[in-house]
Order: sequence, then C-alpha cells, then structure tokens
Amino acid sequence: MTSQYFSLTFFYLFLFFFFSFSEPHLSENSVTPISLPPSPSPSPSPSPSPNNIPIEIQLACKASKDPPTCESSLTELSHIPSNLTALQIILSALSVSSQNLTSAQSMVKNLLDSAGAGDANLTVAAKNCLQGFGNSAYRHNLTAAALPRGEIKDARAWMSAGLGYQIGCSSNLLRVNGTLPVAKTLEVMKGLIGFTTNALWMIMNYDIHGNETGSWAPPKTERDGFWEVGSGSGSGSGFGFRGGVPSGLSPNVTGWVKPSFQDR
Ligand SMILES: *[C@@H]1O[C@H](CO)[C@@H](O)[C@H](O)[C@H]1NC(C)=O
Ligand SMILES: *[C@@H]1O[C@H](CO)[C@@H](O)[C@H](O)[C@H]1NC(C)=O
Ligand SMILES: *[C@@H]1O[C@H](CO)[C@@H](O)[C@H](O)[C@H]1NC(C)=O
Ligand SMILES: *[C@@H]1O[C@H](CO)[C@@H](O)[C@H](O)[C@H]1NC(C)=O
Ligand SMILES: *[C@@H]1O[C@H](CO)[C@@H](O)[C@H](O)[C@H]1NC(C)=O
Ligand SMILES: *[C@@H]1O[C@H](CO)[C@@H](O)[C@H](O)[C@H]1NC(C)=O
Ligand SMILES: *[C@@H]1O[C@H](CO)[C@@H](O)[C@H](O)[C@H]1NC(C)=O
Repeated sequence: MTSQYFSLTFFYLFLFFFFSFSEPHLSENSVTPISLPPSPSPSPSPSPSPNNIPIEIQLACKASKDPPTCESSLTELSHIPSNLTALQIILSALSVSSQNLTSAQSMVKNLLDSAGAGDANLTVAAKNCLQGFGNSAYRHNLTAAALPRGEIKDARAWMSAGLGYQIGCSSNLLRVNGTLPVAKTLEVMKGLIGFTTNALWMIMNYDIHGNETGSWAPPKTERDGFWEVGSGSGSGSGFGFRGGVPSGLSPNVTGWVKPSFQDR
C-alpha cells in the first residue's frame, strides 16, 4: 500500500470524525491520570450563567466544535473549582481526554483478549492500537507537564501527536469493524478523538490568545487547526503533522519506538 493511500485514509477519517462528532453515550469507569492544579478558591462561582455552567468554561468551550458536549464533559468533573483559569480548564479538558483514553484502552484490551486464532487482522489492529495508546498517553503526560511551565508550543505539538495516535487506532479498527464490540470501541474512539481535539484546540487558542478566553474560537479551517500543527509553529519537537499524515505515525504503529523521557 502506498503512503498516498494512507494520506487519504487519514484525511478522510479525520473529516469523518471532525464532522460527525457528537455526544458519546457510553460511560464506564473514571480513572484520573491527570489531576487539576489547586483551585484559587473553593467558593462558588461568582457569575453562574442561567444554565449553571461557569462563564469561564462557556468561553473556553467556544474553542470546541461542539461546545455543549465540551461544557458538560468539564462540568461532569464534580470537583470542578470556581474561577478557573484558562490553564486549569485546559488541564481539565486534558483530563477528560485521558479518562476516555483509559476506557478505550481497556476496551481494546478486551478485543485483543477475545480475538480468536482466526482473527489475525483484529489481533494486529488491537496490538497497534495499544501501542499507539501508550504513546498517546505519554504525549498527554508531556502536554500536562509542559503547560504549567508555559511551554505552550511544545504542549501543542505533544497534544497533536497524541491525537494522531488515536486517529491511527481508529483507522486500524475501522478496517476490522465486523463485530459489535469493535463497533462499540469505535464509538468510544469517536468520543475520545472529539475530547482530545477539544483539548488541542484550547491549547492552540491559549497559544494565540493567551488567557483571553473571550477571543477563543475553533480553528478556521482544518489547515489552520489540525494539519498545520508542527509544520510552521512549534519548537521543533518533530511530532507534528505534515502532508496529511502525522509524522512518526505509520499505519504499522508497532514500528514506532517510544522515546524516553530524556528526549526533550
Ligand atoms: C468520556 O468522557 C466523558 C466526559 O468526562 C464521560 O462522560 C464519558 O463517560 C467518557 N467515556 C468513556 C467511555 O469513558
Ligand atoms: C473570581 O473572579 C472574579 C472576576 O474575575 C473576581 O472579582 C473575584 O474576586 C474572584 N474570586 C476569588 C475568590 O478569587
Ligand atoms: C485480513 O486482511 C486481509 C487483507 O486486508 C484480507 O485479505 C483478509 O481476508 C482478512 N482476513 C480476515 C479473516 O478478515
Ligand atoms: C502518565 O502519567 C500517569 C500519572 O502520573 C501515570 O500513571 C502513567 O503511567 C503515565 N503514562 C505514561 C504513558 O507515561
Ligand atoms: C462499524 O460497524 C457497525 C456495524 O456494521 C456500523 O453500524 C458502524 O457505523 C461502524 N462504525 C464505523 C465508525 O464505521
Ligand atoms: C491573564 O494573564 C495576565 C498576564 O499574565 C494577567 O495579568 C491577567 O490577570 C490574566 N487574566 C485573567 C482573566 O486571568
Ligand atoms: C510492523 O512493524 C513490526 C516491528 O517493526 C515489524 O516486525 C512488522 O513486520 C511490521 N509489519 C508490517 C506489515 O510492516
């Protein structure tokens, strides 16, 4: 298969998730790999909106393609403090994405465990996904560590790469979507990719507009938003996207070697 083929696959897959992202319905466990920084105040929100969603969350979720889902995912975290800073909201969005990633991970583990000897294609797809998830979780962690240090362009590149691995997994699973468990996993992946995209777009807005959430908005085009990341901006982390295919992300994700912590 040519790289051209995979370029198109990734591109259409992205468009598919981009335009069809809607409210995920599956809900499972809730592990919290990333914790919020201390809240500035435990007092109730000073300016609750009619629908009870803190105004700062409403503003930040303007960066999302789907603000209502973004808002509800962030307010679902029951411990959400008031007077959130932009940084805290981004870290919350990242945490939501990490939780969904953990769910997707366990679903794919189940797929792998239940795959019979005849399911060679499914086994390969699931293994590739798990490898990609590990890389994606690692990028989530790098992102969460970089943001409070103000290394926003790094965070942007890490998050973009993390998203790329998730899209790669969906692309793999899509080709073996023959059973209900796979279809359900793909559904969760769709939600995961939506939440990761939210986090990425928030980081991009934070990079461009800083904490002025009043100016936050979705990227104007896919080129502005998704594909450009890492090509012009950034600090040369090298995990961005170029020409439609995430660099470092081959269809055979098993070939990808996870960098060590010393790589930065
Ligand atoms: C994904 O995250 C959202 C928001 O926190 C949550 O409602 C949903 O249950 C999660 N889905 C899975 C499968 O973990
Ligand atoms: C919350 O933010 C508002 C406006 O940004 C400010 O007036 C208020 O003092 C803050 N409250 C706390 C407890 O920090
Ligand atoms: C596995 O994938 C190959 C290539 O796409 C295909 O020819 C084959 O039929 C698939 N096997 C099964 C069991 O689906
Ligand atoms: C990410 O961080 C969490 C919490 O510190 C940790 O449990 C997990 O092992 C890390 N994952 C990776 C892939 O580095
Ligand atoms: C996976 O297959 C199921 C059953 O054919 C279908 O309903 C679902 O839309 C497919 N998922 C995707 C993402 O194409
Ligand atoms: C945004 O950041 C600036 C500079 O760090 C700070 O002075 C200002 O108070 C912040 N505004 C909000 C709303 O957090
Ligand atoms: C995928 O990568 C692994 C590890 O590098 C390699 O062993 C395997 O042959 C590759 N598979 C394909 C189809 O390229």
